[in-house]
Amino acid sequence: MANYKHFQLETDAQNIAWLSIDKADASTNALSRELVEELESILDELESERPKGLVIRSAKPSGFVAGADIKEFTAIENEAQARELIRRGQGVINRIERLRFTTVALIHGFCLGGGLELALGCDYRIAEDGPKTRLGLPEVKLGIHPGFGGAARLPQLIGAPAAMDMMLTGRSVSASAAKRLGLLDFAVPDRHLETAARSVVQKPPHKKPLAWWKKLSNHPLVRPLLAKYLTKQVAAKAPRKHYPAPYALIDLWAKHGGNKKAMLQGEEHSVARLVLGDTAQNLIRVFFLQERLKSLGASRSVSSSERNASAGTFDIQRVHVIGGGVMGGDIAAWCALRGLQVTVQDRQEATLARVIQRAAKLYKKKLKKPRLVQEALDRLMPDIHGLGVARADVVIEAIFEDVEAKQNLYQEIEPQMKPGALLATNTSSIPLEVLSTCLAEPSRLVGVHFFNPVAMMQLVEIVNAPNTDPAVVDEAAMFTRRIDRLPLPVTSTPGFLVNRILMPYLLEAVVLESEGVSPKVIDQAALDFGMPMGPITLADTVGLDICLAVAETLARSMDVEVPARLRSLVESGRVGKKSGEGFYRYPATKKGKPEMSKPGRGDYRPADIQDRMILRMLNEAVACLREGVVADSDLLDVGIIFGTGFAPFRGGPMHYIETTGADVLLEKMRTMHKKYGERFAPDESWQQLG
Ligand code: NAI
Repeated sequence: MANYKHFQLETDAQNIAWLSIDKADASTNALSRELVEELESILDELESERPKGLVIRSAKPSGFVAGADIKEFTAIENEAQARELIRRGQGVINRIERLRFTTVALIHGFCLGGGLELALGCDYRIAEDGPKTRLGLPEVKLGIHPGFGGAARLPQLIGAPAAMDMMLTGRSVSASAAKRLGLLDFAVPDRHLETAARSVVQKPPHKKPLAWWKKLSNHPLVRPLLAKYLTKQVAAKAPRKHYPAPYALIDLWAKHGGNKKAMLQGEEHSVARLVLGDTAQNLIRVFFLQERLKSLGASRSVSSSERNASAGTFDIQRVHVIGGGVMGGDIAAWCALRGLQVTVQDRQEATLARVIQRAAKLYKKKLKKPRLVQEALDRLMPDIHGLGVARADVVIEAIFEDVEAKQNLYQEIEPQMKPGALLATNTSSIPLEVLSTCLAEPSRLVGVHFFNPVAMMQLVEIVNAPNTDPAVVDEAAMFTRRIDRLPLPVTSTPGFLVNRILMPYLLEAVVLESEGVSPKVIDQAALDFGMPMGPITLADTVGLDICLAVAETLARSMDVEVPARLRSLVESGRVGKKSGEGFYRYPATKKGKPEMSKPGRGDYRPADIQDRMILRMLNEAVACLREGVVADSDLLDVGIIFGTGFAPFRGGPMHYIETTGADVLLEKMRTMHKKYGERFAPDESWQQLG
């Protein structure tokens, strides 16, 4: 067995070389420059030794290869450097493709980006047929597209429609889906992986040719038509000026698809240009910030109290959720989906029945296979008497937003809870220091503020009061990671971070509407900025009653004016989508889609419409940072991106201020302050940002 830093290479008695990728000092394999260089020298060796076959696999339990080493993207200074990096990656995969013996990629777990491109260079791909196996080319999510030959090879292998869909959405597929697509040659259970690879090398099976219509999709006469259709589809989701990568990929394939050499060169030029652009750099930054949020839930600091004897992991098996309403029901369902044993308590049987119905719908969508759906449902137990409290590692309270109701409940459950179990509340507006006064151990209460809909919103604000035990905050973050959500520590101040920053933006949209600007014009202005959904649609979706409640909470402690229009809509019962009407009408015949036409030329559109909404948001962000609601500007940015969908390609509110220039924005704020009054008074800390 030869000695390498990032690989293990063994040749067995049948003269098959088994190359295991094992990136040093990392839990996941990524194609770093150093790793690629080592692979080049291994190929030198293999080319001269000529084994019967080569099987490339991973020594990491987490998976095959997660992609290129994204850290290296941030160090690129110019196009020449970028092209050199891409050429290297392409070069080593081309060499694997040209080897004169059979090559097999033996895949388990993640096989993404550069990892899948490496596998595409092999003659055969075999993967474990298990729930952890995911294959995909997610580069567009980082503002680039495949550059190590993926764009050249995938459309040839599985046909353009499926290949372009994978590359344009960045969606990954399971082993069985990959097998159906023709991306995998075999999907087998874990225990058969080695045998399958061995037999493929011993007797390379015949490859089924691509179906004629899939082949046809790459034909020079078909490409322009398909490209036009794909462009239209992409344009409906991501405008070219904000997200250039998918368009660049379509253009590249339309021009050179089928000509491998030209495609590879095209990939090199196109990705080198994209990676240096603002969109990619901002998306890459957001990727690392997301990793930072993940790491916040990695371990626990030593407790300042006696409740936890040691630092380290927090073993979470059982969760008890109290309140089976909109939030509690969905939180319980999500926890069971993620593998925890969950009991969910409510005062009413009928509410619990609805929780199970909603959960079944979610599981069918996410898990598909009836056996897996049943297993998840078995983990979710209705518990009207609250028997689960005594056994739970985490108790989450999500009952009515009422201090007395919550405190009565705490007094009842605290004596029943296991020592050291986490007591968390999903309150969206009550200060924790108020709620915790009734507890024997007030420092144990922590906020886990989920967003609606729970299954879609990745962020969870971890709310801490001055007296919250820091170890409890860490445990809440660990729990959040355990259920695959992103924890963001925030202080127990009105609106916490996300609602506080979102609300002024929504309220300004309501003010604009009451001035006579049509909802669709307002929404379009926000979409043009890069928001995923306009503020009026968002308010209708969240529920105008909920918006009003949050706005009123903020108005009690801050200088926020609640527009009369919002109140009158709620009073008249028009509370948004759920009532069939809010700012828009949602006819039952249109399945929840609002009745609206595209903004027309004659529509009234104030020149400063976008600034009015965005600047109020930015002003609140600046204030939150000054007050220390979150620890730093990076956390603020990532929190607002994942909590509100704030245009990710702009890198978050604080990053946007930095790149646009604080002085420029402050000047605009001052103008608006004069024109529209106090709600535009610039926060005192703008000056220091300049
Ligand atoms: P909801 O009104 O839909 O559900 C509350 C549920 O709690 C009801 O089913 C009720 O029967 C049950 N309940 C009340 N007292 C109980 C008790 N003593 N024991 C057992 N069950 C009891 O309310 P929703 O919207 O789910 O809100 C729950 C909490 O989550 C509130 O604190 C709210 O501020 C917070 N929240 C709500 C969000 C939203 O968008 N709706 C977003 C984030 C947080």
